[in-house]
Amino acid sequence: MNYYYFLFTLALILHICSSSDPYFNTCFSAKCGDVKITYPFYTANQQKLHCGYPGFEVSCQNGSSPYLNISGSNYVIKKIWYENQTFEVVNSIFLPSATQTPNCSGSIRNMTLDSSLFNFAASHNELILLVNCPQNSSTKYKQYMVNCGALAMEENDPEFEGLKHKCDRVVLVPYEGEKESFTEVLRRGVALRWVANNCSDCAHSGGQCGYNQTSSAFQCYCSDGSYSHQCQVAAASAIAIVLLVVLVIYLRRRHAAKKSTFIDLYFPEWIYNQLEVEQGTALQGIMNDEENKIQRKIILVGLWCIQNFPSNRPSMNKVVEMLEGSLESLQMPPKPDLSSPSRSVSYSSSTPQNVVTSI
Ligand SMILES: *[C@@H]1O[C@H](CO)[C@@H](O)[C@H](O)[C@H]1NC(C)=O
Ligand SMILES: *[C@@H]1O[C@H](CO)[C@@H](O)[C@H](O)[C@H]1NC(C)=O
Ligand SMILES: *[C@@H]1O[C@H](CO)[C@@H](O)[C@H](O)[C@H]1NC(C)=O
Ligand SMILES: *[C@@H]1O[C@H](CO)[C@@H](O)[C@H](O)[C@H]1NC(C)=O
Ligand SMILES: *[C@@H]1O[C@H](CO)[C@@H](O)[C@H](O)[C@H]1NC(C)=O
Ligand SMILES: *[C@@H]1O[C@H](CO)[C@@H](O)[C@H](O)[C@H]1NC(C)=O
Ligand SMILES: *[C@@H]1O[C@H](CO)[C@@H](O)[C@H](O)[C@H]1NC(C)=O
Ligand SMILES: *[C@@H]1O[C@H](CO)[C@@H](O)[C@H](O)[C@H]1NC(C)=O
Repeated sequence: MNYYYFLFTLALILHICSSSDPYFNTCFSAKCGDVKITYPFYTANQQKLHCGYPGFEVSCQNGSSPYLNISGSNYVIKKIWYENQTFEVVNSIFLPSATQTPNCSGSIRNMTLDSSLFNFAASHNELILLVNCPQNSSTKYKQYMVNCGALAMEENDPEFEGLKHKCDRVVLVPYEGEKESFTEVLRRGVALRWVANNCSDCAHSGGQCGYNQTSSAFQCYCSDGSYSHQCQVAAASAIAIVLLVVLVIYLRRRHAAKKSTFIDLYFPEWIYNQLEVEQGTALQGIMNDEENKIQRKIILVGLWCIQNFPSNRPSMNKVVEMLEGSLESLQMPPKPDLSSPSRSVSYSSSTPQNVVTSI
């Protein structure tokens, strides 16, 4: 294989690889018990902060179930359905653990939802819990006693009015479904739906969902940078197309004129100059008119797609529009500029020599 051709191909590959975003491929799912933890949830000891939403930090130790702090209480997440953005929680106070039986007289609180984080997913009922009631009422109302030591009753229970002033606190516990035993209802939990951005567009475009703490906004981390919604699929595939075309042209051109000096140049710039200065005449010698037009069009679209400013790059729809439209309607993109790594992420637009000398 020709030495220059080899270096050139290597340089192009390195060029593409070197533009990969430092945040891309840093978000992986974790496991807490048998619950998968991924965006918008994250667990600080296994995952990165930028991979989840604030308010969705779960804790899990020794492979236990994930715990989430909701309005100052620990809730166990029993299940997460990422496809419909819902999850099921139960206040850990109601769950027996290896070391202790449930005890409601401590710090039990109402479940108050921050509606900017999550809401109830379905219609639910509320069970009344009366906490720290006098001893004699506990014996009198034996049938109301639940395993954590509180009295539980339905909202319309006639005894409620008489009892509520005698006990320390009244707490409402949301639950779904049919009422069986009160103890069972308390352990059943309730489904919540989260508000954080839907991840599916980002994930389907090859990105990873996360959150930017600085801008307090959703981020889609892609191989070529982070975006506010989804990856610019167009750019990646168009770069591949343009590279193929460019290689074909290069090989043909090498046939036509044996001495090649362009290896000294930044490649997109060389291609750009071919289009701009020679207005296609250089390419006309080696292609017929129709072929020339199509290739010019693909190269122009490719040059738009590899713009250093992400905002200059066309969307997938725009790329299709450009490829279908006439050559004359295509604007010349700004000249590729070696000195402008002006992207939000570190990006090295090395010249081929730089890349070659650095390996
Ligand atoms: C985790 O497990 C180890 C050994 O199995 C134990 O020593 C440690 O105390 C556990 N930590 C917690 C927080 O349960
Ligand atoms: C939950 O978070 C609040 C403040 O965000 C904190 O004061 C409280 O201690 C936490 N509770 C638990 C059980 O982690
Ligand atoms: C998320 O977006 C996808 C595609 O736009 C849609 O099919 C899906 O239903 C959405 N999920 C939720 C929970 O809204
Ligand atoms: C429950 O907790 C309270 C205070 O947190 C304590 O006084 C009480 O003895 C505990 N009850 C049981 C049955 O452990
Ligand atoms: C979410 O999806 C799961 C599994 O498909 C289903 O069991 C659950 O009822 C759904 N939740 C809501 C609120 O639609
Ligand atoms: C429980 O005891 C208190 C005094 O300790 C008394 O005032 C109250 O009437 C008693 N309640 C019941 C239901 O026996
Ligand atoms: C829980 O909410 C109910 C209804 O809003 C209220 O009456 C009760 O005092 C609250 N309990 C606590 C401990 O804040
Ligand atoms: C987060 O937002 C800040 C401010 O908008 C921006 O400078 C930074 O590049 C963003 N971080 C990522 C990873 O996109």
